[in-house]
Amino acid sequence: MIDIEFVRSRFIKHFDGKTGNVYTSPGRINLIGEHTDYNGGFVFPGAVDKGITAEMRANGTEDTVMAYAIDLKDRVDFKLSDPAGPKASWARYIYGIAKEFQKLGVPVKGFNIAFAGDVPLGAGMSSSAAMESCFACGLNDIFGDNKVSQWDMALAGQATEHNYCGVNCGIMDQFASVFGKAGCLMRLDCRSREFEYFPFKPDGYRLVLLDSVVKHQLAGSPYNDRRNSCENVVKHIAAKHPEGQFETLRDCTWEQLEEVKDEVGTEDYMRAKFVLGEKDRVLAVCDALNEGDYEKVGEMMYKTHEGLSKDYEVSCEELDYLNDIARECEVTGSRIMGGGFGGCTINLVRNDLYKNFIATAKKKFNEKYGHEPKVYDVVIGDGSRRLC
Ligand code: GLA
Repeated sequence: MIDIEFVRSRFIKHFDGKTGNVYTSPGRINLIGEHTDYNGGFVFPGAVDKGITAEMRANGTEDTVMAYAIDLKDRVDFKLSDPAGPKASWARYIYGIAKEFQKLGVPVKGFNIAFAGDVPLGAGMSSSAAMESCFACGLNDIFGDNKVSQWDMALAGQATEHNYCGVNCGIMDQFASVFGKAGCLMRLDCRSREFEYFPFKPDGYRLVLLDSVVKHQLAGSPYNDRRNSCENVVKHIAAKHPEGQFETLRDCTWEQLEEVKDEVGTEDYMRAKFVLGEKDRVLAVCDALNEGDYEKVGEMMYKTHEGLSKDYEVSCEELDYLNDIARECEVTGSRIMGGGFGGCTINLVRNDLYKNFIATAKKKFNEKYGHEPKVYDVVIGDGSRRLC
């Protein structure tokens, strides 16, 4: 985690010398359940020990925000009443959360903020959700009397993506960042929003992320197209079954998907096929975890990778290569994590194979792409909170 004193020293230097309160929110991993959140399915995320840390303080103005992104050495001032909002993409997360909080009735006024992060950007670990929930946590404390619920904080983060950042994302990332708990994964039913903490300490195994360092950018990306494909399939199924209730692919069966196969076209069919399979895999993983059957968990992870690569088409050459290396090294499970189009693979590895896997992956990847993948050992940490 980022050192509080580091953030504080910048906050003091860039503003009026006064200190504020410090908040932090994590990025996330996801064991399984990819692209299921906006399809009303299940996800299995956990918060990580890396995230965003921000110092914030009301500055006494009606609506002027003074913001400093420490890592980028970039300062942006803007007014909350400006309907266009700031241009800098990082500042739009601050603007978006503040606007969403105002919609919730929180009397957000002008404030100063400086923040830094150690969650890698564009690696599929939800650096943007970490920002949103960190800023939400701060605004809730400073202007909201901490009356905004955890769910409303997560939803304000998601609305920020939709309304100010151009990503029509689901709720998984913001949920994980707000609700995370050290040592636990969480199984969330994205339709009912019920969730359960799952202590995750796989005896004899560890989780490690390999970052391809291929840039992952969801805004304006085919991410939204994937979502549209899924929604299109649901529309066709609903039209065939006026008696039924079809909101998302969660409500659709394999048979119903087959019925509309010809009319929706190959691409949309493949997308929906992946989602229905993934829905089943998350439940299989839950059973396997309850039985301590990590080999089964791993098998599902490989299946997910295959589906994400071939049917959902959100992989890339580098990620497929990392997946191949994992198989060669007899890693228990490996797959793309997060939205895709670059970023990391998540790997469930037996302790005795770990060293060889990492060394082999570094060597082979370097030989092919001229640089090593970055390695992040997963430590499952706590969700959004005030530090001081
Ligand atoms: C991104 C989105 C999430 C989710 C994942 C894929 O991280 O923000 O809502 O859809 O992709 O599982």
